[in-house]
Amino acid sequence: AELADRVPLIWLHMAECTGCSESLIRTDSPNLDTLIFDHISLEYHETLMAASGWQAEENLEHALAQYKGRYLLAVEGAIPTANNGAFLTVGCKGHTGLQIVKDAAEGAAAIISVGTCAAFGGVQAAYPNPTGAKGVHEVVDKTVINLGGCPPSEKNIVGTLMYFIMFGKLPALDMFNRPKWAYGARVHDNCERRGRFDAGEFVETFGDQGAKDGYCLYKVGCKGPYTYNNCPTERFNHHTSWPVLAGHGCMGCSEPNFWDDMADFEKP
Ligand code: SF4
Ligand code: SF4
Ligand code: F3S
Repeated sequence: AELADRVPLIWLHMAECTGCSESLIRTDSPNLDTLIFDHISLEYHETLMAASGWQAEENLEHALAQYKGRYLLAVEGAIPTANNGAFLTVGCKGHTGLQIVKDAAEGAAAIISVGTCAAFGGVQAAYPNPTGAKGVHEVVDKTVINLGGCPPSEKNIVGTLMYFIMFGKLPALDMFNRPKWAYGARVHDNCERRGRFDAGEFVETFGDQGAKDGYCLYKVGCKGPYTYNNCPTERFNHHTSWPVLAGHGCMGCSEPNFWDDMADFEKP
């Protein structure tokens, strides 16, 4: 597709691990090539772009100006706010992540927080949170779509991008501004081990016979009953697996404050 037909996407990295970008590149419907050649114009993405240094900064400044009011802004990572944002500076000019996100939010047609870091602060916001890490929605005064998950699946990321591209508006959102189509159901209600839970068949310790037989992981810390996400039905990595199928249980990674409220992760 011609550049004019594609929606410009600016993807910023803040305090994060890049796992959400790893998730993005596993998309298979559409695959990444189709996504970036037919639907979006990826203007800035520190992991995927060829430019570096001054050239990268120029690309960002250029994209912010040229596509003002039109670009989609995706943010991966929390925003350190303590000491006026000094815990995260990006690029040759030493701008804080806080300032970069605020500036980029101004001209954005829509803002998507990709992952629990950007949505709710994530693990770096864990008590006592010395860097003052916050979700994007706490530092900008526009609506932000929150894609909870550490990381969210590639389907939840690309599905949200494609929704905006196809319909030109935000999808219906839940009370935490997560798209309802992805976060409308409890993990527990679609889990393949739910029958085991209902029958009272529980793994008591990792590695016991119940674990080998696929019993419910609730007693070894599964937070599926308190977590909203489509992992059991959509899975990860081309529908290969998800935490419960892998035998660990859900850590509640798509929920605000899961890092403190749901820890430790191996006890109910
Ligand atoms: Fe990494 Fe998780 Fe943060 Fe994504 S939400 S950047 S996977 S720590
Ligand atoms: Fe619920 Fe977790 Fe048990 Fe599945 S493994 S039924 S999500 S408690
Ligand atoms: Fe996260 Fe739980 Fe899904 S830990 S990936 S919400 S199963």
